[in-house]
Amino acid sequence: MKEFKRILVTSALPYANGPIHLGHLAGAYLPADIFVRYHRLCGHDIIFICGSDEHGVPIMLRARAENKSPQEIVDFFHAKNKTSFEKFGIEFDYYGRTSSSTHYQTSQDFFSHLAEKEMFILKSEKQLYDPEAGIFLADRFVRGTCPNPNCGYTEAYGDQCEKCGTALSPTDLLNPRSVITNATPVLKESVHWYLPLEKFQKDLEKWIGTHPEWKTNVLGQIRSWFEQGLKDRAVTRDLPWGVPIPESVAKKAGIDASGKVLYVWFDAPIGYISATKEWADLQNDPDKWRRYWQDKETRLVHFIGKDNIVFHCLIFPAMLAAHGDYVLPDNVPANEFLNLEGNKLSTSRNYAVWLDDYLLKFEPDSLRYCLAANLPETKDSDFSWKDFQAKHNNELADILGNFVNRTITFAHNYFAGKVPRKSEFEGTDFELLKLLEKAPAKIGRHIDRFELRKATREIMDIARFANKYFNDKKPWEQVRSTPGACATTIYLCLETVRSLAILAEPVIPYSTEKIWMILGTTPERDSDFWESAGRLSLVEGQQLGSQIILFKKIEDEDIDQEIARLETAGNSVNAAKGDAETVNISYDLFKKIDLRIAEIITAERVAKTEKLMRLKIKLGSEQRQIIAGIASYYKPDDLIGRKIVLVANLEPAKIRGEISQGMLLAAKDGEKLTLLTISDEINSGAKVS
Ligand code: 2FM
Ligand code: ZN
Repeated sequence: MKEFKRILVTSALPYANGPIHLGHLAGAYLPADIFVRYHRLCGHDIIFICGSDEHGVPIMLRARAENKSPQEIVDFFHAKNKTSFEKFGIEFDYYGRTSSSTHYQTSQDFFSHLAEKEMFILKSEKQLYDPEAGIFLADRFVRGTCPNPNCGYTEAYGDQCEKCGTALSPTDLLNPRSVITNATPVLKESVHWYLPLEKFQKDLEKWIGTHPEWKTNVLGQIRSWFEQGLKDRAVTRDLPWGVPIPESVAKKAGIDASGKVLYVWFDAPIGYISATKEWADLQNDPDKWRRYWQDKETRLVHFIGKDNIVFHCLIFPAMLAAHGDYVLPDNVPANEFLNLEGNKLSTSRNYAVWLDDYLLKFEPDSLRYCLAANLPETKDSDFSWKDFQAKHNNELADILGNFVNRTITFAHNYFAGKVPRKSEFEGTDFELLKLLEKAPAKIGRHIDRFELRKATREIMDIARFANKYFNDKKPWEQVRSTPGACATTIYLCLETVRSLAILAEPVIPYSTEKIWMILGTTPERDSDFWESAGRLSLVEGQQLGSQIILFKKIEDEDIDQEIARLETAGNSVNAAKGDAETVNISYDLFKKIDLRIAEIITAERVAKTEKLMRLKIKLGSEQRQIIAGIASYYKPDDLIGRKIVLVANLEPAKIRGEISQGMLLAAKDGEKLTLLTISDEINSGAKVS
């Protein structure tokens, strides 16, 4: 493998229009942080850059829905997300934002440079235009039916069909309608700058060919893009929010620049560069960013989720290559998606675990460990609260925590809280020594190859082995029969604790900090630090620190609450909590919701849940079961015989193993919840319209 002098790591810039959830963390942020922390421990020259992506239509839509300006929206979420990452221990060197003046300048300069090199083509095309709102309908401002004959999804966006994944242009949509006014768009001529990807395909194929080591999920997606043939991409938009296209470029082309901005996916990756510039300014070395972006000896690594592959593996590299002054990524280790309790995460239904909510109740390391052990590295993976609890209780607490605790307690009880003086090694001592000796290189190799699940397992396996060593050695017997051997056992256990404090730091940095307090030392972090985890380094007679419990068990009760919240959020009356993403819907769409009167025949609480009620309902001649999150508001007896309003054509869902065939409607006002019931004589099954 090529030797590099320095590493530049980026994590996808999250849109500043919503908070961070577990899916984000598992995709682009935790893996990057583990990778970076490892390289820092090795003393390598590495910087970690991220920031807020503050342009694009979804931000404008949210601003409209909340009657705010886009700037207000991004100011709020930029600050919020920056803090959430910090609290979770994601240690960026710099967290920038794409509404900064440095970013405007950098992305405009980049665009101008490509224009000067005649890298763009100008195309005048008829585009969808909302005659009522008086604006062009780019990307997500327009919805319609997906043209893919195998799909036909009626709610596809102008840039992508979220059902089948096809990348679209607004004019590809069948029966398009404006998201803003619901008007049927008209076609209006507009000129735009295009990146001629078709022309770049050969060079891109050649370059990708030099990276057979990239992850197969990434190469697979790239291959399929190549097979379809890359299409020229418009990199400007007619929108009121974004980086304005440079006047000089427009003037030279004889085009009126007013109302035209850079496409968000053109300016966002340049955000990595502008953030690096701002970082360099803070270092009082304004030119330092060049070393990371323009010197061939930099290893550039983009951590992203799989939905960003085309932009980071093809479009941004094409832009960088066209510019000519920049290094191309050495790797783009994109992760697949993280599901939640077996279902797809959905921010609009509030079916997600939000980082800030998580941090109110649990420690960052529990989630860092659980996610690291289960990252969607090669295929989608699943987060479940029960698994989270099991990983925390059975692995962090019972294996790692227990090993550290029993070692330290023994040293305090029998060796006056000091590192004992070892004597000759024998038998399994050598096995433990060998394991430690090999660990830094082995775990480091996994991390460097983006095999973080394996690295995490290796780390826990050391603690697992060490517990067995402790059990087999029986120091509580040795202390009487062979005190010298007992000292060696505890000495080696303490060395293992020290090694784990180093090796586990990339994954669980808060806990390893506690381990150092337990050991009573502040380690010197020289360039040999990571490697030193494989060598005996403790000083005999050194005083140990305080006895702290590393991991307290997580109780069933805490987990059950989280599960119940998700069940309610995903499947029942509280689904509307995600109203932050509320947008106008068309009458056509509304008509598709089959609302019916239903009569409740039986009602009973679902065992072992706080909020769920199992209802048998009558819908004309049909009977159905639904599971609803209303048990904290109603007693079963109060429900029987009531006529309610049901969303009858909601996809059936499994909730706590029970099938739910529909969703009842209720109104929520603060803590109060009232079912929508009908007192008039009306037959069940009647349609509500
Ligand atoms: O998908 C997203 O969340 C985008 N905001 C990622 C942008 S990554 C980069 F190019 F800035
Ligand atoms: Zn589709």
